[in-house]
Amino acid sequence: MKLWDGRFSESTDQLVEEFNASIGFDYKLYQYDIQGSIAHAKMLAKCDIISVKDKDQIVAGLKEILAEIEAGNFEFTVELEDIHMNIERRLIEKIGKVGGKLHTARSRNDQVALDIRLYLRDQIEQVTELIKNLQLTLLELAEVNIEIIMPGYTHLQRAQPIRLAHHLVAYQQKLKRDQQRLADCYQRVNVLPLGSGALAGTKFPIDREYVAQELKFSEVSQNSLDAVSDRDFIIEFLGIAATVMMHLSRLSEELILWSSSEFEFVEIDDAFCTGSSIMPQKKNPDIPELIRGKTGRVYGHLMQLLTTMKGLPLAYNKDMQEDKEGLFDTVDTLKISLEIFGRMLANTSFNQHQMKEATEGGFVNATDVADYLVDKGVPFREAHEIVGKAVLYCIENKKNLSDLELKEWTDFSDVFGEDIYDAIAIENCVDARDTIGGPAQEEVERVIAQEKGIIDTE
Ligand code: ARG
Repeated sequence: MKLWDGRFSESTDQLVEEFNASIGFDYKLYQYDIQGSIAHAKMLAKCDIISVKDKDQIVAGLKEILAEIEAGNFEFTVELEDIHMNIERRLIEKIGKVGGKLHTARSRNDQVALDIRLYLRDQIEQVTELIKNLQLTLLELAEVNIEIIMPGYTHLQRAQPIRLAHHLVAYQQKLKRDQQRLADCYQRVNVLPLGSGALAGTKFPIDREYVAQELKFSEVSQNSLDAVSDRDFIIEFLGIAATVMMHLSRLSEELILWSSSEFEFVEIDDAFCTGSSIMPQKKNPDIPELIRGKTGRVYGHLMQLLTTMKGLPLAYNKDMQEDKEGLFDTVDTLKISLEIFGRMLANTSFNQHQMKEATEGGFVNATDVADYLVDKGVPFREAHEIVGKAVLYCIENKKNLSDLELKEWTDFSDVFGEDIYDAIAIENCVDARDTIGGPAQEEVERVIAQEKGIIDTE
């Protein structure tokens, strides 16, 4: 017997039953469903809609059901379609007809919206912790590797020398913004939809503020039609998850590139790599590759839900049942990716020698030569031209800028003096860039300390 079959004269087709059911995935919401039902039952009693005795029985029954599910003693059935009806049916089974009073002044439409919000609140808190931890890992890595100088790139061409720490802090900053985005999203998730009924609220004298307090929601939704038809809070979360994955994917790509024989900038610990079944010499960076790959999967979930929602008339439509699998998979993928990424990074070593050597080719200090000329009064455009010629000369003669004799320098401009050598020593080039947010050691150290302090006090 179904909870709604009074109006029906034929039973549901078996295949339809399976197709229609969401219990295969929404069982994950059980604790939130029960938590919401307990708050609802308490409110019904407080407002004299049910008796205190009924409420006590309902609450006790729900608690037992929670224990049953947690002990693995609960049988979910497709016939009962979803988590809401599986639990309600079990309640009636356990405490009898009085269990049927729980659904007074409520619909599955506001119930499911509530469950997802409760779930997402928890998940946002967990993801936030993981993002914070990863930021700390990046900052610590930056701190211990502060000495390492490497080329910074644009267009994947060596551009200007920086510190590895500067590069790592760049990712910490991206994650910091992701954390802020999550905190902002949380505010919109943290709104109570229960009390919206199927779409048009209820005639019963319910107390929505009380339920909000019980469930620690900071706001109560202000339009019943909106509250049961809206999934934009999920879309917002998926958008942030996609952004976090995009950030992880970019660093993954760099680790993959940097661990190639062509770069040899990093060595990812064996525990995070795999071998080849045919080529004995191989050590493959599977973990960053998988994170890069899973990023596409998370983007897919975002696109799926946007597409699912775009043509739906208000209010609830069954299409919306499709909101959950992508969300659950996104949360699982995001959490494991963040966790494993931090562990992998902490077990990655950076090849100081190789990185420094890479700054010695590619004329990464060419800008510094131009700046040197500017310091001596040469207009920047003119300086750019002079250095361009010097670089061409070096390419033709297979030299680095630092190999040039003073005589060669003065052939390009008589402004050059002995002090050019100091001005273009790679370390000096980095540390001279000491403006706010620059790669100079002191500045990077300042930012690391500042960011650690912010995370610690959160
Ligand atoms: N299982 C449904 C879902 O996930 C719950 C809401 C069902 N409401 C309804 N009117 N059929 O969306």
